Amino acid sequence: MTETAKLSWDDKTLELPMMSPTAGPDVIDIRKLYAQGDVFTYDPGFTSTAACESSITFIDGDKGELMHRGYPIDQLAEKSHYLEVCYLLLYGELPTATQLEDFEARVTNHTMLHEQMTWFFRGFRRDAHPMAIMVGVVGAMSAFYHDSTDISDPWQREVASIRLIAKMPTIAAWAYKYSVGQPFVYPRNDLDYASNFLRMCFAVPAEEYQVNPILARAMDRIFTLHADHEQNASTSTVRLASSSGANPFACIAAGIACLWGPAHGGANQAALEMLREIGSPNRIPEFIEKAKDKDDPFRLMGFGHRVYKNFDPRAKVMKQSADEVLDLLGIENNPTLQVAKELEEIATSDPYFVEKKLYPNVDFYSGIILDAMGFPTSMFTPIFALARTVGWISQWKEQISDPGMKIGRPRQLYNGPTLRDYVDVENR
Ligand code: CMC
Repeated sequence: MTETAKLSWDDKTLELPMMSPTAGPDVIDIRKLYAQGDVFTYDPGFTSTAACESSITFIDGDKGELMHRGYPIDQLAEKSHYLEVCYLLLYGELPTATQLEDFEARVTNHTMLHEQMTWFFRGFRRDAHPMAIMVGVVGAMSAFYHDSTDISDPWQREVASIRLIAKMPTIAAWAYKYSVGQPFVYPRNDLDYASNFLRMCFAVPAEEYQVNPILARAMDRIFTLHADHEQNASTSTVRLASSSGANPFACIAAGIACLWGPAHGGANQAALEMLREIGSPNRIPEFIEKAKDKDDPFRLMGFGHRVYKNFDPRAKVMKQSADEVLDLLGIENNPTLQVAKELEEIATSDPYFVEKKLYPNVDFYSGIILDAMGFPTSMFTPIFALARTVGWISQWKEQISDPGMKIGRPRQLYNGPTLRDYVDVENR
């Protein structure tokens, strides 16, 4: 690699340093560009801009590869489990048996919520979207856990991280319970992370609830597949919020708000709703035409990705998991699944989608599994938020422990009016 890149315009030439990552394209360091060249770069949507250095997750979008700390996602989904992946993301290495046991015990010890927080849930309307409840309740954690909001103290940062990972399933499950008018089910620390979540969602005090281990495994896999995804919109939101020194609960609440949008985490809800709206395979061509029509804002939800220009590796595992779960539950002739399978086949052979490299993404299949498990569509994005919490926290911790951290402050290409004098109202 050359050590500098030359940039010339008008009569100026600047030599900009090059940076070499361990994987991925080389990077031109433009930090001094404005100071030395009096110009900005323009990159809305960050399509060519690295906003930070990170050693957590790597994606090769052309090859369809995703690695956490160097380990490929398919190996992690098959051989590991969510809490082990959390440890890997947070601390950089796979844990020894003792480290894992200790970590699981720490997370398990923090699963309960401050009892007074139940009143937050009760303050919402019953028909509130669970994402609205999650944004509110997670933000409100900063009003309850004062002993873990001092970001300059590494111990407090650690406690905040564990609290968030531990309490998120309780918060998501209670948001659901509240919306269906059922009593909150408290966490049980003898259950694993995924089983505990399923129980908090589906158990009622009136009868015993047995967690199906195959469903718990599928749930754990959904968590694992969503755990981190490098600098996506919600993670970048968390980093930007944290760059001002905001407390971790406020930063994660910001991440949840960003994730909610249909172009990001909200796509799993939107994808299943779209499949239901299509309803039967014979209506697929009509929707494909709508998706291709430039004058129609409709997009095939669960298709396309900013980074993957090949099959989303998470979607491959998710598809396999969907088959297993539906098989277990004896769901063979599910019309939504039939529409999904045919839509995938038709779209992946249609020149429009092939040329634009639009493949099914993780959200295309996750909704089918969650639906089969009995979750309403409104719970799909909260489950994504729960799982992504560890990614947000790992990226937050990485940023905050970087001595070179600066407040995030993008510049702009100003296109508004230039200087003009104020006109009194009677003269306008
Ligand atoms: N259906 C139809 N056309 C599409 C789609 C789609 N799902 N996605 C992209 N395109 C077209 C788009 O119209 C554009 O065409 P043209 O070049 O002719 O203007 C081209 O493909 C490139 O699209 P883009 O919007 O410039 O690409 P982007 O990288 O900004 O957007 C995306 C990525 C994920 C927002 C987009 O593909 C999308 O809206 N997909 C549907 C929503 C979705 O499934 N989101 C989940 C993403 S994966 C989970 C997550 O990360 O949260």
